[in-house]
Amino acid sequence: MMKLGVNIDHIAVLREARKINDPDPIDALPLAKLAGADQITIHLREDRRHINDDDARRIIENSQLPINLECSIDPDIIERVVKLKPYRATIVPEKREEVTTEGGLDIVSYHDRLDSVVHYLKANDIEVSLFIDPTIEMVRASKILLVDWVELHTGRYANIYSMLYSNLKYNKNSIKELDIPRKELEKMLRAEVSKITKAANEANEFGIKVAAGHGLNYQNVKEVTTIEYIEELNIGQSIIARSVFTGFLKAVEDMVAIIR
Ligand code: PXP
Repeated sequence: MMKLGVNIDHIAVLREARKINDPDPIDALPLAKLAGADQITIHLREDRRHINDDDARRIIENSQLPINLECSIDPDIIERVVKLKPYRATIVPEKREEVTTEGGLDIVSYHDRLDSVVHYLKANDIEVSLFIDPTIEMVRASKILLVDWVELHTGRYANIYSMLYSNLKYNKNSIKELDIPRKELEKMLRAEVSKITKAANEANEFGIKVAAGHGLNYQNVKEVTTIEYIEELNIGQSIIARSVFTGFLKAVEDMVAIIR
């Protein structure tokens, strides 16, 4: 059964818009559990622009659901993660100027640093996942690092989907080609799904568990749920966006209903 990790960073984004203590992301924990979510995902960014150290500590200490903590390979951040002891760490690339995590990890350039980080986290009983572009090469490179999980980046899939079905919402920064004919977009979408499927198959062959995420919403998620070896989806933006209108509990329940 497909699992749902709810990314609650954006609750802290809303709090930081006013720099006060409301809304508190910790209040999402019991509601996410009640709504049927399987995991909570948070990202402790180097610039602490949303989740801060105290949030991470309180969330990890109080959650009844497992916490998947996204982090970069920055030495200070990794030390913090080891102290916080989440059940899983998902290593993501991080650039200060980016609005969100724009692509997968460059495993080739950062191989040595990743190798020591993965060992260090695993030695501290933290499961490790790598957020990667959905390619066979990246899955093979992840295998060498002996990770437990890979999370396949679905951002490109989501952007093509948006261009095809709701041309107002695509992320202009991620896909440079504008005004692509419909037929071409359909081909691109099929190719991207096929790439994700092959990457998931390859990971499964190696005994690596497969998650996916980024840009998934109530429409585009359906196709991803049909990919056999994807066990878990991590979704934030679309759930929190819907929560503004329907409430968080209902927004998570709606997503759980679709992905199950
Ligand atoms: N998975 C990873 C590794 C991420 O970095 C993010 C964004 O923080 C997500 C999933 C969730 O993406 P979205 O907010 O677009 O649903």
